[in-house]
Amino acid sequence: MKFDTPATTNPIDQLKVIGKPIDRIDGPLKTTGTAPYAHDRHDVVANQAHGYIIGSAIPKGRIVSMDLSAARASPGVVAIVTAQNAGKLGKGDYNTARLLGGPRIEHYHQAIAVVVAETFEQARAAAHLVRVQYARENGSFDLDAVKDKGKPLNEGGADESKVGNFTGAFAAAPVRHDGHYTTAYESHSMMEPHASIAAWDGDRLTIWTSNQMIAWTVSDLAKTLGMPKEKVRVISPYIGGGFGAKLFLRADAVLAALGAKAARRPVRLTLQRALIPNNTTHRAATIQRIRIGATRDGKITAIAHEAWSGNLPDGKPESASTQTRSLYAGEHRMTANLLTVLDLPEANAMRAPGEASGMAALEIAMDETAEKLGMDPVRFRILNDTQVVPDNPEKPASSDPQSKKSEKKPMHIAHPPFSKRQLVQCFEIGAQRFGWNRRNPQPGTVRDGRWRVGMGVASAFRDNLLTKSAARVRLDRRGILTVETDMTDIGTGSYTILAQTASEMMGVPLARVRVRLGDSSFPASCGSGGQWGCNNSSAGVYAACMKLREAVAQKAGVDPAQAVFADGLVRAGSRVLSLADAAGDRGLVAEDFIEYGDLDKRFQQSTFGAHFVEVGVDAATGEVRMRRMLAVCAAGRILNPKTARSQVIGAMTMGVGSALMEELAVDKRLGFFVNHDLGTYEVPVHADIPYQEVIFLDETDPISSPMKAKGVAELGICGVAAAISNAVYNATGVRVRDYPITLDKLI
Ligand code: MOS
Repeated sequence: MKFDTPATTNPIDQLKVIGKPIDRIDGPLKTTGTAPYAHDRHDVVANQAHGYIIGSAIPKGRIVSMDLSAARASPGVVAIVTAQNAGKLGKGDYNTARLLGGPRIEHYHQAIAVVVAETFEQARAAAHLVRVQYARENGSFDLDAVKDKGKPLNEGGADESKVGNFTGAFAAAPVRHDGHYTTAYESHSMMEPHASIAAWDGDRLTIWTSNQMIAWTVSDLAKTLGMPKEKVRVISPYIGGGFGAKLFLRADAVLAALGAKAARRPVRLTLQRALIPNNTTHRAATIQRIRIGATRDGKITAIAHEAWSGNLPDGKPESASTQTRSLYAGEHRMTANLLTVLDLPEANAMRAPGEASGMAALEIAMDETAEKLGMDPVRFRILNDTQVVPDNPEKPASSDPQSKKSEKKPMHIAHPPFSKRQLVQCFEIGAQRFGWNRRNPQPGTVRDGRWRVGMGVASAFRDNLLTKSAARVRLDRRGILTVETDMTDIGTGSYTILAQTASEMMGVPLARVRVRLGDSSFPASCGSGGQWGCNNSSAGVYAACMKLREAVAQKAGVDPAQAVFADGLVRAGSRVLSLADAAGDRGLVAEDFIEYGDLDKRFQQSTFGAHFVEVGVDAATGEVRMRRMLAVCAAGRILNPKTARSQVIGAMTMGVGSALMEELAVDKRLGFFVNHDLGTYEVPVHADIPYQEVIFLDETDPISSPMKAKGVAELGICGVAAAISNAVYNATGVRVRDYPITLDKLI
């Protein structure tokens, strides 16, 4: 189904099941410990051996020699795979460094071997007997020291933009702010580590793993192993968190496959927790400069945002300045994402890549500018709202000469309107509900016993991305409806919202809907990432259900346009048929996908919100404690307020982490992240956040998809860190521009 005109009334609008706070249908499996996660799957294939991965002990250089003899002779060892004996390996489209290193080493803890043994303990013991000699080379590990070499990835490309004359307008502005901000390296730290079981059947490979994007991973695994992707099957029905770490093929899947080939039997392994931060991806640290010029009555006339980050050669920058093109009005503007080479592990997407880091800086700068204006920060933001995108640079044509010929130039509109933008409403409702008028604008004046108390606010902004997504629906003779798609559920509620969608569309009670996810033998979905999963995957199920409705109507001999689906029946006029009877003995199957025309070029698709926080800062020690948090979100139709709320409070919690705790500390001499485990990488827990509230505006977006929904899971983190920094300032008068806000920065 092509979706290229705004949605009108459709079967989803009945809202019998959609929009209800339904409990997760996979909840009982999770709470009883019976959801089969990748590493638990003893049952799927017999005779599993265990793998243990060895990571490089240097960040850059090469392996001079590897002595495997003691390890090979160790009890229970079945096989050891290194780059020497693995055969020729390719590289996936989504990987920057190779997943099996050697002899060249590209980053610390890059996998250099997998030891396969009868038991995990035997594999681990043998791995410690592998002797490796390295030739270390000097590397670059200090962003601050190399940032001035930073430049956009493609000159004139997607990483820079200019509108009007920023320099002139900023110089002429009566009120000016110019500030530098830094954000820390962060690790996804999901509960379930990367884990895989690999089994070969001749030249066919099956991997049970934990992965957000099944189709990307099938294709990258095939590329890495040099085999046709038709012979690769990836199965990932339950995922214990991902946050972006599991968007890509990682070393666990590749080394399980290589280990299984060498051992001639299935291999099970996890990427050991202590390897994850340096072996996989992380959120890049950033240095950001923001300049805002305004009139005395608070209108922004000039705004510039530059963001520096580093990555391995061929890596991408953290696009932290990009939202500044869309968020606030202002005639003269400039943004740039500037990239330098670092020899740390690969930086890549972590929850709300780009915006989470960019908003952490921009929204402090907005607070500082409001203060210079003597204006309330809520009012300052409302005053600079815009209903069109002020800065929408034309994307450069594809550099691939083949596609240049065939593709017609993508549509470009200089100032597209937002499909729906209710940022102002979020602030108005939030200010009232939070009691913003009780904030004392004079910093450092409110006390509650030993606590200095302050309130802070920030906008939330995150794009809504439209991507193709397919699904299949089956109706059987018992009237059971089964949805199949390779969509994943990373703890987000995909099972539940897809069941709700199918239930609503077909008029079948929720209890008679089954949802099967995360298997590459099912139709390819959008996958889970970038908060695009909810709207696109449900729209794919919508499309398949539209086809199934037609098939049912045909069986019933009624006009599909007149047919009403409810209570397990289809009715038209005096005709009534049960769906079970329509399905008959052979059942009915329909498959379709949603794809989009140019609606998202004619309209900017984004989600909006406002974050309000109250903090207490210990007057003696400088310890910061959260007291209250409120998020108000405008993100299209909320398909399930319970799962959506759960996503937003999770994101807000992650925002508290990046504001107050999370930081991968770099050893700038040895070139690695030092605190690479869950014991020393601190994240917030329940006791850190006593009170959180989420309000969703009652909104539909007819331009996002037939579901009229958007994503919300990443919106919830964007802006939180800045709201906290602004609250700390309000409490203490100390402006912290460097995250995390640890107590040493306050005293
Ligand atoms: Mo998200 S960082 O795209 O999983």
